[in-house]
Amino acid sequence: MSGRTLGLVCAAAGGIEQIRERLIEPMLEDGWAIAVTLTPAAAVWLEASGERDKIEAVTSIPVRSEPRLPHEQSPHPPVDCYAVVPATANFVAKLALGVADNQALTQVCEAIGGRRPPVVVFPRVNAAHAGQPAWDSHLAALTGAGVQLVYGEDVWPLHTPRSAPNKQIPWPAIRAAIEEAIAKHPPT
Ligand SMILES: Cc1cc2nc3c(=O)[nH]c(=O)nc-3n(C[C@H](O)[C@H](O)[C@H](O)COP(=O)(O)O)c2cc1C
Repeated sequence: MSGRTLGLVCAAAGGIEQIRERLIEPMLEDGWAIAVTLTPAAAVWLEASGERDKIEAVTSIPVRSEPRLPHEQSPHPPVDCYAVVPATANFVAKLALGVADNQALTQVCEAIGGRRPPVVVFPRVNAAHAGQPAWDSHLAALTGAGVQLVYGEDVWPLHTPRSAPNKQIPWPAIRAAIEEAIAKHPPT
């Protein structure tokens, strides 16, 4: 049993439809608790597919996509690590700039700025996203702040848009990165 809590943040990118079966349920089986937060766009997708309710049922923790009201308590427990899976190009760009205009970004921006808990990001992007002129500087800003990226030719070769429709998210590399991040920054 791990006994640790993952803050899983999901943006509206391909592969999100598999997040429960491929990441959440296997980690729950390994003893993790998982508190899921969705970007507004990801919330629309997962509500339409019925996955939001299924994720809530398996994690037994409310899935967040809206900020709390000022008088409300956070519905989520403190987490030992954040993982943004999948992260869109849009989410990565905003995160690198510190733009916190939704609940998902707010949580991860705060963790990066405060240097804990550790943050793992899997940018689920294509060659066109990565060709955007500010992309490399966004990645450099995040790694410079201690964010662990799951990115590069070995784990996620870049393809032109819509040329690799069935490409699988590198789930084992993401699990390994989360374990590595926790090992480097053990809970206090
Ligand atoms: C079917 C579909 C698939 C998409 N897949 C991706 C993707 O894999 N990566 C990505 O960066 N953006 C992807 N997008 C674009 C994002 O959904 C879009 O930029 C959205 O505004 C992201 O919002 P978010 O970052 O707040 O979740 C996709 C859009 C659609 C409609």
